[in-house]
Amino acid sequence: MYQDLEKILVTKEEIAERVAEMGRIITRDYAGKAPVMVCILKGASVFFADLIREIALPLSIEFMAISSYGSATKTTGVVRVLKDLDRDILNRDVIIVEDIVDSGITLSYLRKILLQRGAASLKTVTLLDKPERRQVKDLTVDYACFDIPDAFVVGYGLDYDQKYRNLPDIGVLSPAVYEKNEG
Ligand code: IMP
Ligand code: MG
Repeated sequence: MYQDLEKILVTKEEIAERVAEMGRIITRDYAGKAPVMVCILKGASVFFADLIREIALPLSIEFMAISSYGSATKTTGVVRVLKDLDRDILNRDVIIVEDIVDSGITLSYLRKILLQRGAASLKTVTLLDKPERRQVKDLTVDYACFDIPDAFVVGYGLDYDQKYRNLPDIGVLSPAVYEKNEG
């Protein structure tokens, strides 16, 4: 898999250090609370598993799967819920856990539907943020582990065409890998 990378952007050691730090920040910010952590499948799954173990609170976990129509490297803006939460979140402190915020379309849609369900509070933690690519201007990303430049990245849960999710590091995918499919 490493031969398909242009370069490694964040190593597994850097990820582990930052995820632990993010866990401490969330533990401090939510002291006395029992947040519901919502993992957005599939991309956030690896980050989620590591992050929740760095948070020393009586939290609970939920999973949600959504699909955004488009090519493998770009979102079109149409979002659909494939798997919904199992429990209701009325009056709960909810934290959405995302892999990456790119245009912001997916997250802004998720925030809208979860707010309609009467959460007491709603914040977002993302592994990666690409601020340069933002299309939704008024979107708040409360916690971002790493801001990255505009490049397509894979690894640590992030995929291209369902591959590379199991890479321990985060790397920039060589454009040659997707240009041959997307023209
Ligand atoms: P947005 O709706 O444009 O913010 O896109 C968010 C979703 O697009 C993420 O949850 C990812 O599934 C996917 N995505 C965006 N950029 C990348 C990337 O660089 N690598 C892998 N997936 C990405
Ligand atoms: Mg994806």
